[in-house]
Amino acid sequence: MKDLKPRVLSEPEVLERLKTKRGQPGYLAMFSSWLGGVITDPALMQIPLDDHLVHRGHGVFDTCTLGDGKLYRLNTHLDRLLRSASLARIEHPWTKNDLIKMVAGTAAASNVRDGSVRYWITTGPGGFSPSPKECPEACFYCVIFDPIPLAGSKSGPLSEGINEVTVLDTPMKPPLLATIKSNNYLLNVLTHMEAVDRGGTFGILVDDLGYVAESCVLNVAFITQEKVLRTPPFEGILLGATIRRVMDLAASTLSEENLISDVDQSPILASEVSGDQISEMFLCGGDTHLYPVLSWDKIPVGQGKIGPVAKRLTELLEAEGTGQTSGDPDDFIDVLYDQ
Ligand SMILES: Cc1ncc(COP(=O)(O)O)c(C=O)c1O
Repeated sequence: MKDLKPRVLSEPEVLERLKTKRGQPGYLAMFSSWLGGVITDPALMQIPLDDHLVHRGHGVFDTCTLGDGKLYRLNTHLDRLLRSASLARIEHPWTKNDLIKMVAGTAAASNVRDGSVRYWITTGPGGFSPSPKECPEACFYCVIFDPIPLAGSKSGPLSEGINEVTVLDTPMKPPLLATIKSNNYLLNVLTHMEAVDRGGTFGILVDDLGYVAESCVLNVAFITQEKVLRTPPFEGILLGATIRRVMDLAASTLSEENLISDVDQSPILASEVSGDQISEMFLCGGDTHLYPVLSWDKIPVGQGKIGPVAKRLTELLEAEGTGQTSGDPDDFIDVLYDQ
């Protein structure tokens, strides 16, 4: 029988075990303000257990994309991170410029020009009570890793489209939590899991009055038969960076190309946007991810095929996020690599 009696490990044993267990090669660099530097060995990318991020979820996070050596829309994401930190009442010493320097420095240490970026502001270590008073030092952690498509596989949903379902049993977050990008993502995870159980992918949240909210980690948009792009207002859902860019592109490039006639961000009843009332529906997030929805609650969306708006937006978002097109100069921050 397996001996479950814990044994005290020596320091070399701990290091050896960390290296055996965490040989994850896709994690390229991690900055920790707690340690005051960057770690490039994935085995050593650790967070203190008593950081209130870990045991109370008292931390906020955000992301961005590293494409061709540039940090795409880091400014937009950091504005949201700082807003999240303020709503979560996390006191920390960093300005936006400080955060840019720490993220760009971690990206430089990763030595890759293309990757995913994730970072957290946390209450920091100090004990296991709920009170942040025991945490003398807020922490900032940042990790650069190989880009991983949201659905977990290298091909599929982005190009082939997905089926979606309304989530019925998992409650929506209260507005305060839904508008903070915090480490309280249990309901988002359960939303995704319930969606998969019901034959969907990420899940569509509809509130008690029948209004569409968002998906587990993505915003929702519809294209009506009149070519209007419709998306719900940000009250009670996350202020998505991707959907904001999608609205800009729809109002500019896609309008010029006659693919869109108008953009409308206002409450949407689920009953107004089902079946052939719309020509397209898609979910978007993570700067470059756009998932065309082919069916919703088993009813085909429009023709049940990927439509021209989703195709064009995917092209534009990918080109921008991977640094192939210039877009708005404020959306790109050059990483200064050593060589
Ligand atoms: C709940 C939720 N909604 C929407 C989004 C999409 O936001 P973004 O486009 O900024 O990635 C996310 C992103 O993680 C999210 O967690």
